[in-house]
Amino acid sequence: MLELNFSNMMGEVIGQKGIAERQIEGIKTTVSNIDKRIKSKERPELAFIDLLEQDTSEIKKTASFIRDNFENFIILGIGGSALGPRAITEALSPFHNLDKKPRVFIYDNVDPGTLDRMLSLTDLKKTAVNVITKSGSTAETMSSFMVLWDRMNKAGSDALKSFIATTDPEKGNLRKIANEKGLKALSIPSGVGGRYSVLSPVGLLLAEVIGVSADEMLQGARDIHQRCSDAEVWKNPAYLFGVLLYIMEREEKRTMNVMVPYADGLKPLAEWFCQLWAESLGKLGTGLTPYPSLGTTDQHSQLQLWMEGPEDKVVIFIKVDDYGVDIKIPKVFQDMDGLNYLGGHTMSELIKAEQESTELALAKIKRPNMAIGIPKIDAYHMGQLFHFFEMATAFTGFLYGINPFNQPGVEEGKNFTYGMMGKKGFEAKKEEVEKAREKKMCWRV
Ligand code: PA5
Repeated sequence: MLELNFSNMMGEVIGQKGIAERQIEGIKTTVSNIDKRIKSKERPELAFIDLLEQDTSEIKKTASFIRDNFENFIILGIGGSALGPRAITEALSPFHNLDKKPRVFIYDNVDPGTLDRMLSLTDLKKTAVNVITKSGSTAETMSSFMVLWDRMNKAGSDALKSFIATTDPEKGNLRKIANEKGLKALSIPSGVGGRYSVLSPVGLLLAEVIGVSADEMLQGARDIHQRCSDAEVWKNPAYLFGVLLYIMEREEKRTMNVMVPYADGLKPLAEWFCQLWAESLGKLGTGLTPYPSLGTTDQHSQLQLWMEGPEDKVVIFIKVDDYGVDIKIPKVFQDMDGLNYLGGHTMSELIKAEQESTELALAKIKRPNMAIGIPKIDAYHMGQLFHFFEMATAFTGFLYGINPFNQPGVEEGKNFTYGMMGKKGFEAKKEEVEKAREKKMCWRV
């Protein structure tokens, strides 16, 4: 079971810069009110909690069809429609494409170089394409879908067999196309937003395609949900996570949250978390800035900043007890003093020692940090991590008094792009871009 160890956030351990128990006690009434709002599903977007009870038979049937008929599986999506699938693949089937079929490609941009390279590596007649977009209209996803649709048809592959649309049950252009063309389609329940959708067909279809049990992932999520729905803040790891980071930001001006898993396979999970945390909380001039990192790798890149840089961070470790395998460091070069201490130990001993040492080094100079521990990286615990972070994020949004489910700040950029790309109704935005370009010409070297 996932565990949150927040000792190094507390005043008793790190002194004045830490949190006092009374500060958490002081927020308890607010927590209990938010708990009621979550339980009453005050907002329709809290439907991500209902995903834990979904029927996965259609997902499993579709995945088995893909596994039996295709050599390549391409996902087209962006944001929440790509980060979750990537986190699942990297955590549960690392280096997947080197020895497993179908090979998986997650294309989440509109960089023509990458798309061209991906297409040159895949025989489209042997390729299934999963187009994932909740809104059914995202420019990046739909444009790569249009390219793939055209290329597939020209390559003579059977589009009806090869495309799977994952989208809103009713709304949007992708749903319309799927209905009109008779494409295979899976639904993201209408209330569930992109960044809260990893435990819907968005992530679960890919999981099943690569041989990971969707049911085990959901079981993990259900089990952690029991704890993440406890109204008592001291017993609820998701609420406590939010409360601690909120107090650190409000009282200590620690606005940065560094997410550092000590496992290569969990780096994309840290990136998935960063989207969830940033897009959900960064509103109305408030929010917390997440950034993804990796232990031990970034000890040789970022740690100096965390130790001696501005006191604006909380470092959050993700620790793994059992790496599933271990490798003994051989007793070679025994006559070298600077090396012979390593021989006889294992790689997992070393990575765990480095994590613990970094935690302690930070705590010793009173820099707050906390650790999320999981026994091992498997479907069950990935389900726990995903759901824990989603509950924590929704809760923290309510704590800040903002809506953790929308993203109004991304609209203006989209509108300018629509204007430049000639979308009807956005002519004024095009003019605005052109005027701005003139100003940009004045200040150049
Ligand atoms: O969380 C969100 O809603 C967004 O980040 C979306 O995931 C992203 O914009 C992609 O949207 P869509 O799935 O509608 O293509």
